[in-house]
Amino acid sequence: MTSPRSPRFIQCNQADSTADCAQAITALLGTPASASPKHFYDRLGSHLFEAITELPEYYPTRTEAAIFEQHAAQMAQHIGVGATLVDLGAGNCVKAERLFPLLEPRRYIAIDISADFLHEALRRVQREHPQLDTVGLGLDFSASLDLPQGLLGEGAPVFFYPGSSIGNFTPDDALAFLKSVHAKAQGGGLLIGVDLVKPHPVLQAAYDDAIGVTAAFNRNLLRRLNALIGSDFKPAQWDHVGLYNAELSRVEMHLQAKCDITVNWPDGQRAFASGERLHTENSYKYTPAGFSALLQQAGFAKPVQWADEQGWFGVFWAPAG
Ligand code: AVJ
Repeated sequence: MTSPRSPRFIQCNQADSTADCAQAITALLGTPASASPKHFYDRLGSHLFEAITELPEYYPTRTEAAIFEQHAAQMAQHIGVGATLVDLGAGNCVKAERLFPLLEPRRYIAIDISADFLHEALRRVQREHPQLDTVGLGLDFSASLDLPQGLLGEGAPVFFYPGSSIGNFTPDDALAFLKSVHAKAQGGGLLIGVDLVKPHPVLQAAYDDAIGVTAAFNRNLLRRLNALIGSDFKPAQWDHVGLYNAELSRVEMHLQAKCDITVNWPDGQRAFASGERLHTENSYKYTPAGFSALLQQAGFAKPVQWADEQGWFGVFWAPAG
């Protein structure tokens, strides 16, 4: 009997780096003040996001899962077996795992900014798939997708970017990011899930749920900032705001000061007037034609697309071409 494998782990850019810290302070001092949504995903934040995906109002996760379930066999025909599957923002790795039976990847590379969360998830994956070659990569790829040399190995590189996380980029940054994926996807391609434009109340409710899980997720960012820059944000002083900006085709999340607040950190401070907002996230929504065009602008061949019956969510397979 062969001995069970264990996942390899590589930590790339250390979280809490000085660069991260300086960036967070610059964003906080901006007009309007902002914070990168990547700071949502500490360990607690990753768990809160998992809870969001179970909310009745948050349709993307279950809608996307249904699309994968319904069309997985057809997707696999396009993609082929034996790939190096690169999971961008793997989280609990569950989405990729569901594709394993059909895609039979040779190597599974799970990348996530939250390395702690990834460790636990990947150990479970390895237990359930003892023979799979698995690699965990703690990496913040929001600025650039720098993969360690030789990581991709022999299989065709198939990048997997589900969940509409691409929506966190502005369309310009999304294009740049997709180009960088394309450059590494020769012989393979990109399987990506994208949230689509739909009636505004549906979008609004998905980011402002009745029991306040999204509000907690949003406020948790303040704890994360306190840990990162040594600030003294008090989460209870901030209201959650989730709204749809139709003009820019994006959901926005903000934290709004309930009273006049001065936030202090070791060598600085920022005053917020009552009602002033800290912008924490954009979540862009695309039309199927718009996203297909973006993929082709990034260099991919014409994608194959799948959607649910209501056209709320899209999955695209874009061969590198
Ligand atoms: C993980 C970025 C896809 O934009 O819908 C969920 C994050 N924010 N609820 C999204 C999120 C608030 C989510 N993404």
